[in-house]
Formats: sequence, structure tokens, C-alpha cells
Amino acid sequence: MPNDTEFVPQSSRTDVLEPALAGLMASPKTLPAMLFYDDEGCRLFYEITRLPEYYLTRTETALLSSLAGSLVPDGFRDAVLVEFGGSDETKARILLDREDSPFTTYVSIDVAGQALTDMRARMASTHPNLTVLPVVADFMQPLSLPLPEGPRMGFFPGSTIGNLDPASATRFLAAARLSLGSGSWFLLGADLRKSPNILLPAYNDSAGVTAAFNLNVLQRLNREAGANFDLSRFRHEAVWNDRESRIEMHLISTRDQVVTLGGQDVSFREGESIHTENSYKHTQDRLVAIAGDAGWEMQHMWQDSAGLFGVILFRAG
Ligand code: TRP
Repeated sequence: MPNDTEFVPQSSRTDVLEPALAGLMASPKTLPAMLFYDDEGCRLFYEITRLPEYYLTRTETALLSSLAGSLVPDGFRDAVLVEFGGSDETKARILLDREDSPFTTYVSIDVAGQALTDMRARMASTHPNLTVLPVVADFMQPLSLPLPEGPRMGFFPGSTIGNLDPASATRFLAAARLSLGSGSWFLLGADLRKSPNILLPAYNDSAGVTAAFNLNVLQRLNREAGANFDLSRFRHEAVWNDRESRIEMHLISTRDQVVTLGGQDVSFREGESIHTENSYKHTQDRLVAIAGDAGWEMQHMWQDSAGLFGVILFRAG
């Protein structure tokens, strides 16, 4: 099945209004992180990955490139690479582009349908013999994946694991283990715990791109859920929570105000926050423990020379 173009929709149009309202009626207010990644959000996130302060992407990319062949277990062939959240195939290409790549199928799961379509087109022209299976889905939900026979490797780069609280991270890794099956492998890329002096600028850049990315969630609610957020009345804030070992992203109301969405009034006090995202920064040992609770056994771990970012290879026991 060279260059297969089958789409596997797991859910219909993601409904935005209902989860948004639930979060905004809660106390403290939250919004689901899934809302970040519409087309505009994907574009802004791509810009974030190129910011001088956002060391994560370039550090992970350099680390993966330098490890190259050693990332793939011995005797691996006709294998399936399954990326969770893989609308941008740049990191998968580090594995797929190698002349001795053992992968003949690339499965990519993401909520961003358009980004997956674009990915599939790019892969079709550069990898005509690779079977590419885009799956439009929220990878946190249980999935029935169209996996062909052959050894499997899950791939979860970009420190997205840090956007899940530890219990959800274990739940996700356990579900991934079930979807991939016993004997499969899992390659995890995660930002590591470090000084807030390095972390905070990465989530509050001087060009304001992260602020625009965070505020885009409100813009999206205006576009897709008929909300009337005035973006000039909210500001982006990144906070280091040392006890939880995480960066928190907030949108702070700069005045008392009332916003309407779905016919519902939501009131904000001046200084009140909408908590939009967390980015946990674990030690490598903690990551191994979290994955261990999900049945993954650590095989190898690596980090860059400055100890900023970790890559860990697991096997399902
Ligand atoms: N996975 C990315 C991270 O935690 C996501 C991210 C980067 C992000 N910058 C952000 C999420 C700003 C929300 C707001 O690093």
C-alpha cells in the first residue's frame, strides 16, 4: 500500500463551545488546552519553536539527530512509527529520512486535520514508498488504530508529556501501550526540570509570540463559538510553580468585565485568571517512574550536554 491516503476520522468536528463553557463556569476558570491548535494556533506554535528563548525544539532536534541510529532497536525492520500529536513531521523525519530507516509505515495522530492533510502531501512527495496514515483524533481518547503488522514504535516528542498532569500522563502512556501492544517500543522527548531563569523566558518571549498563542484561544472562541472576548482586556502570564514543578500559562483579565458565549454571561474580576495550560518539568527519574506506572520499561536515556532536554526509549513489558 505505497503512499496510502486513507483518513481515519475518530471523532466528528471537535465541539468547542461546550468544553469552553464548562471551563469558564468553573472556579478557578480554565480552558481546555486542545483549543490552542487550530490553524492559527499551529502557525503561532511553529513560530514559538523558532524563538531564541524557546530552547526546547532546537535542543531536542539536535539531540535526536546526534543519536540517529542508536534510537532504533537492533533487528527492527518493516516497522510502524506512531506519532502522537504529529501534525508537524519534522522530528519524525529525523527517524524516517535515514537511509537505513526501518520504518515502512508512519501513523500520525493529531486534532489538527488541515495540518495532517498538509503533512500527508509533503510526505507523499518525499517518501513515495512510505505508507502514511493520518488519524484525526484527540490522542487522549481511546483509539482503535489502523496498525499494520510489524514491530511498532510510539513517538511522543516536543515535551507534550509535560502538558499532562502526572496522573493523566500515566493514563495516556497506558492507553498508548494498549494501542501499540506488548513488545512495542516508545520514544519520549521531554523538557527537564531546571532553573526558572531559563524556563520563564521560554514561555514569555520578548517578541510576544507566546502571548499571541495564548490569546488565540479567546480569538478562536470568538470565531467558532460566537463569543465576544475583547483581546485587549486580557494579558498572557507565565508562572513557575515550584511545588508542582511546572510552568503555568494564564490569561489575566485586566479589568472587571462580562463576556458572552453561547448565550451565557461569564463575569471576570480585574486580575482574575483563566488557567489555560501547564508544562511540567520533570527529572528523568520522575519520567521513568511515570512511564513505569503505565507498564513501560526504560531501555535507554539520553540528554543534551547542557542537561536541558531528555530523550527516553521504553519497551512495553
Ligand atoms: N508542548 C509545549 C510546551 O509545553 C507547548 C507550549 C509551548 C505552550 N509554549 C506554550 C502551551 C505556551 C501553552 C502556552 O513547551
